Amino acid sequence: MRTVDLITKKRDGGELSKKEIDALIAGYTDGSIPDYQMSAMAMAIFFKGMTPSERADLTMAMVHSGETIDLSGIEGVKVDKHSTGGVGDTTTLVLAPLVASIGVPVAKMSGRGLGHTGGTIDKLESVPGFHVEIDNGQFIDLVNRNGLAVIGQSDKLTPADKKLYGLRDVTGTVNSIPLIASSIMSKKIASGADAIVLDVKTGDGAFMKEMSEAEELAACMVDIGNRVGRRTVAVLSDMSQPLGNAIGNALEVREAIDTLKGVGPDDLTELCLTLGSHMAVLAGVATDKEEARSMLEQSISSGKALDKFKTFLEAQGGDASVADEPEKLPSAKHRFEVPAKQSGYVASIAAENMGVAAMLLGAGRATKESTIDLAVGIVLNKKVGERVEAGQSLATIHANGESVDEAIAKIYDSIRIDDQRVTPSPLIVGEVK
Ligand code: URA
Ligand code: CA
Repeated sequence: MRTVDLITKKRDGGELSKKEIDALIAGYTDGSIPDYQMSAMAMAIFFKGMTPSERADLTMAMVHSGETIDLSGIEGVKVDKHSTGGVGDTTTLVLAPLVASIGVPVAKMSGRGLGHTGGTIDKLESVPGFHVEIDNGQFIDLVNRNGLAVIGQSDKLTPADKKLYGLRDVTGTVNSIPLIASSIMSKKIASGADAIVLDVKTGDGAFMKEMSEAEELAACMVDIGNRVGRRTVAVLSDMSQPLGNAIGNALEVREAIDTLKGVGPDDLTELCLTLGSHMAVLAGVATDKEEARSMLEQSISSGKALDKFKTFLEAQGGDASVADEPEKLPSAKHRFEVPAKQSGYVASIAAENMGVAAMLLGAGRATKESTIDLAVGIVLNKKVGERVEAGQSLATIHANGESVDEAIAKIYDSIRIDDQRVTPSPLIVGEVK
C-alpha cells in the first residue's frame, strides 16, 4: 500500500480502513513514512475529518505504537480521569484520594508538562519528601494496599502520538477534533484505564473556548472510548474563570487539603463531587450518581478522604503532617494585595490571562527546561458574582521576587468590575455518555 494513495484517498473524502490506518501509524512510528507525508495526511484529516470508526482505529493504532501499562494486577475497575486543562485546576489532587477513600482504585499516571502552573506531579512534589520514582511493581502494590498511587508518565507510551502531536504543532493541524480526541484517548487507554471520566473544559481558560466545540470533542472522545470497550463519560465544565481560588503549586495543594476537609472553594468541591460520582458509578462502587455523591460527601465529613490523602503521601515518602500543618508547604517570601479600583460586582476573571500572571511569577513552565517555583502564585479573594468595595483586595500575590508590577497589571487586566450584579455561569454545563 502506497502512502500517497492513502493521502489522496483522505484528501478526496474517502474512509481509511483499519488496515490502512495501522500501516500508516506503524510506518510513521518506525520512520519509514516521512514527516512530509504525515503532514499532508494530518492536513487532509483537518479538512475532511474522520468517521467514527476511523477515529477509533487511529486511537488503537497509537495505543499499540508503544508500551501499554498492564493494571490487571489491581483488583477492580480502574477508572481514570482526564481534564482537557484549565487554570488553577486542582481537581486531581482532591479527586484521587476522595474516590480512593470510597473504594475506587486509583492508579494514576501523571505528568509535569507545560502550563501556567505545574502538572499534578509538580504540585505533589511541594509536599516535602514526596516522590513518584517508583517502579511498576511498587505502583501496583501501593494501589492494592492503599487504593491509590501516582507514578510519573512513562516516555514509552504512545510514541506515535508524541511524534504526531509535535508535527501537528508546526503544521497548523492541532485544532482538529478527531486528532485531538484520538491523541487524548490513546494516552488514557495505553496507561491502563478500564473506564474513563473526561472533564472537558469550555470558556476563556480552556483549550476549546466555544461550547459547541467542547461538546463535539466530548462526544467524539466518548464515542471512541465506548467503541473500544472503555466505558467513557464526559462532563463539560466552565473554565471562563479560574477554578477555585488558588493558582500555583503549593497554593493549590493547600486548597486541595481544604477541599478534602470540606472547607474548600464551592466550585472546586462541586466539580470533584460531580466527577467523583461518575468515577464511582463506572467503578461499580455505587449504583447511581446520587448514592455515589452521598458516599463522597460522607467521606469528606468523616475525615476518611483526608486520611486517605495522608496515607498516600506517606507511602510515597511525603510528609503527611502537611495535611494538618499546611504552613510546612513551601511558602513565598512576599505577599502583595491587589486592591479593587472601584466598588461593584466582579463580572469576569479572564482565566487564561490570570494563568499568565501566575506564570510571570514563576509558577509555571514556559519551556520544558524551565524550573518552577513551587511556592509562588495567586489567590483570588473574589470570584465572579461577588460584591467588592474599592480598596478591598481582589487577589493576593505570593512572590519570591520583588518586582511584581507586570503580574499586577495582568491581574487588573483580567478582572472586570461592573455596577450591576452579575450571575456567574454555571459550573457544570453538560454531560455526554
Ligand atoms: N492534548 C493532547 O493530548 N492532544 C492533543 O492533540 C491536544 C491536546
Ligand atoms: Ca485552584
